[in-house]
Amino acid sequence: MSDDLKQTFFDEIASIKGLADAINLRVKYLGKKGIITARIKSLSSLPPDERRLAGRQINELKEFIEKACDEKEAFLRSADLKSRLLAEAIDITLPGKHFGFGHEHPLSRTLREVIDIFTRMGFSIEEGPEVELDCYNFEALNIPKDHPARDMQDTFYVSEDIVLRTHTSPVQVRVMEKKRPPLRFIAPGKVYRCDADVTHSPMFHQVEGVMVDRDITFSHLKGVLTAFIHQMFGPHIPVRFRPSFFPFTEPSAEIDMGCILCKSAGCRVCKGTGWLEILGAGMVNPKVFENVGYDAEEYTGFAFGMGIERITLLKYSIDDIRLLFENDMRFLRQF
Ligand code: FA5
Repeated sequence: MSDDLKQTFFDEIASIKGLADAINLRVKYLGKKGIITARIKSLSSLPPDERRLAGRQINELKEFIEKACDEKEAFLRSADLKSRLLAEAIDITLPGKHFGFGHEHPLSRTLREVIDIFTRMGFSIEEGPEVELDCYNFEALNIPKDHPARDMQDTFYVSEDIVLRTHTSPVQVRVMEKKRPPLRFIAPGKVYRCDADVTHSPMFHQVEGVMVDRDITFSHLKGVLTAFIHQMFGPHIPVRFRPSFFPFTEPSAEIDMGCILCKSAGCRVCKGTGWLEILGAGMVNPKVFENVGYDAEEYTGFAFGMGIERITLLKYSIDDIRLLFENDMRFLRQF
């Protein structure tokens, strides 16, 4: 009887192809309700002299089946592993997939360079809100309501008293209200004006700079800004200070640098003058000091403000500011 069973088991195990079938076969013979288990249970019904022989035979068969199942499962497991390794093999000789990394936007690069130059000169960095109170954007900077100087900056009004800041100069006031001199900081950020053509954008970036202490003079302003222009554009670029007007500085100046495109010979970009206007500046108006509670007899200071887009257009000879905001990859890839 056990020979028949052994043969049946042989046939079954030989035809098995997968690990799951092998496990099922083990359960079929050796599980709690398996064939061998049932045979062992039925031994008790045999007469004692037959029981011993039958017991030995069934135990031998059980050991045989256990061993055969172990071997079959081990074989199928390693075959399964081999085929998975083959299927999942990585061909390390294939060239890798190329993912373009991208790079800094030219405006971010200019901004970073400007910040680097001033932080090397010991300026710290301050920030202020882009949605600003009229009193910080204008009044504290000596530009009262209805003053003609407001026409210098076309303003987006959110309400009667709230504007999108038209320049970074309100940060001067916010910082001076909170801190006492000596002060030396820059304030980079976005500003907004109702203004759009090839050199003007409704949103653009400025960097404000302020230095306040006892005995700060116009010479300090000239020294700092000349050093900045030389580091940004090259050490041999000529720089000139031209009288100008801003309500929050007195005296005020517009700073020009020699045209880098025509080397001051005169071209379309510098309109034949050989000079390019690059920033506005001046000595902080004593009225601004009064507005923030500083003693204008004790302290003096200078302030300046520059447009990051303008510097970028000049540095990379770009003739249309809108290119900086269109996100056209054909343009951006050139930097
Ligand atoms: C000012 O905004 C003053 N707050 C600068 C200043 C600060 C003077 C501190 C004195 C002391 P102005 O309006 O000239 O000045 O603007 C400064 C720069 O911003 C300009 O030189 C120009 O480069 C840039 N700019 C102005 N309007 C636009 C615009 N619509 N798009 C791009 N850049 C602009």
